Amino acid sequence: MKIFLDTANLEVIKKYNDMGLLDGITTNPSLLSKEGGDPQKTMEEISRIIKGDVSLEVVAENYEGMMEQGRRLRKYGDNVVVKVPMTAEGLKACKALTAEGIPVNVTLIFSPNQAILAAKAGAKYASPFIGRLDDVGKDGMNLIREIKQIYLNYDFKTQILVASIRHPMHVVDAAKIGADVVTLPPEVLEKMLKHQLTDIGLKNFLADWEKLKSEDPNISI
Ligand code: E4P
Repeated sequence: MKIFLDTANLEVIKKYNDMGLLDGITTNPSLLSKEGGDPQKTMEEISRIIKGDVSLEVVAENYEGMMEQGRRLRKYGDNVVVKVPMTAEGLKACKALTAEGIPVNVTLIFSPNQAILAAKAGAKYASPFIGRLDDVGKDGMNLIREIKQIYLNYDFKTQILVASIRHPMHVVDAAKIGADVVTLPPEVLEKMLKHQLTDIGLKNFLADWEKLKSEDPNISI
């Protein structure tokens, strides 16, 4: 399973990229707005830092605008994947951009039917938003199960990019289902790193080492 980070924060991206954890990045207009500054520079910089796929989203609502913006976004790097919304115009742009060799991530997917259409339009990634479904009392993870089954049935090449993840159990469940990618808010990735037994275990190891050293200060590793 690939791990993408769902952020436009350059410091955070560098931090986890240096740990070798990131296969890619997803951004959206809200994440860019949260960071402030010049969004073009930020998008360019993210595409430079990260070797894997970087999803950058169009803000046009019509086909022509999406095509123009998609081609421009792709100039930020060969690793740029153009994100288009799950609309009729978005699917048309998905098909045309894909035909031009520009990979597409269809975002804001909330049903198996939408995921089927994204695959038919040739999307490299389909992004179902599970947390937002949970928020309205639906089982977001069940959508991932359904899409996985459908894509397997027909050998669709579109990758399932699980989005709107809220906590580490979402990640475990997505991995069990066999989702291709999870895109994580940095807080979730941070929580995945931690375990209280790791902290306790490390504290005890170091205390025991200090005990040994107090008997012979010259010992070292
Ligand atoms: C994915 O590409 C989206 O940017 C993201 O996962 C949306 O998550 P949210 O529902 O927490 O805004």
